[in-house]
Amino acid sequence: MRDRYARNITYLRLSVTDLCSLRCRYCMPAEGVPKREHGDACSVEELVEIARAAADCGVRKVRLTGGEPLVRRGILDICRGVSAIPEVEELCLTTNGAALSSLAGPLKDAGVDRLNVSLDTLRPDRYAYMTRVGRLEDVLRGLKAAAEAGFTGTKLNVVLMKDFNDDEIPGFVDLARRYPVEVRFIELMPIGEGGNAQFLPAQAVLDACPDLRPAGGSGVARRYRSPGGRGTVGLIEPMSRRFCGSCDRIRVTADGRLKPCLHSGQEIPLRGLRGEALRQAIQEGVAAKPERHHMDETGRSEAGRNMHQIGG
Ligand code: GTP
Ligand code: 5AD
Ligand code: SF4
Repeated sequence: MRDRYARNITYLRLSVTDLCSLRCRYCMPAEGVPKREHGDACSVEELVEIARAAADCGVRKVRLTGGEPLVRRGILDICRGVSAIPEVEELCLTTNGAALSSLAGPLKDAGVDRLNVSLDTLRPDRYAYMTRVGRLEDVLRGLKAAAEAGFTGTKLNVVLMKDFNDDEIPGFVDLARRYPVEVRFIELMPIGEGGNAQFLPAQAVLDACPDLRPAGGSGVARRYRSPGGRGTVGLIEPMSRRFCGSCDRIRVTADGRLKPCLHSGQEIPLRGLRGEALRQAIQEGVAAKPERHHMDETGRSEAGRNMHQIGG
């Protein structure tokens, strides 16, 4: 599927719920998802049908997101359904890791190929503060369980925040030196609860760790490696180094609306559509994909939704 700017759309980010087990301060209000915002989620069958139609249109990689995908009832059925679609070459999942210790094995068995785990700090007290209700220990046990279940290529997502985790940059980089993981530092985007106050450009990572050497690119991230490092460090810089020109993705929210771009308010309803009508609506969404976001100029996202309702 080519869009108007000749970008080839092969990647679907499918949100399976807008609910989450954590309450990260930059993502969610303390009381959780407001009732009036909590959309009526698609059924397991509807989600799999959407993935199948997207695959018919040219999608080759599907990532399940949330909220937190592992709190969704039927998540293993969704994984089994999507991984059974022959055209889907890679099924990935982005999780906060809180429930991973018991679910890593079942996810592997259900056909998930790769995991990205959100982890913004390695300090238990800070983790408890940032997530309001989470325990670092659960995520660390989850990461261990994922490795034991045979997952490789796991990435850690670290949202950079001034005066919160900037002093942990060398610690995270060291983790990528000692273990075969990719640690990705993400610039905080001004969406929903994520204001600009704590923004820190990803350049701070290179300033703090001058021995990092370029190691090629991968999707949205620029990659680096420490000399002799087993893993890599990725920089995701939506604010200071826009990557919209090579965007290859569309998103579908848990209530079945296609978002051509994370940061645009445009939404195409897919619910109730099947077969050719569903494929047509997906193609319409691709045709409506804007060239880029404007957050760097305006300082705000035009998404019209919170991050937990889109899945990042
Ligand atoms: P890989 O398949 O491992 O490359 O994962 P990914 O980077 O596509 O997915 P992940 O869910 O781990 O996203 C990492 C971060 O990148 C999150 O903070 C997302 O919000 C952000 N991100 C992903 N896609 C886009 C995008 O199209 N635009 C912007 N601005 N940010 C994005
Ligand atoms: N800016 C950047 N990344 C964010 N995420 C959630 N909110 C924001 C934001 N405002 C990240 C999560 C997770 C990924 C899906 O998106 O930490 O790693
Ligand atoms: Fe935190 Fe992710 Fe949940 Fe948002 S969706 S509250 S970033 S764990």
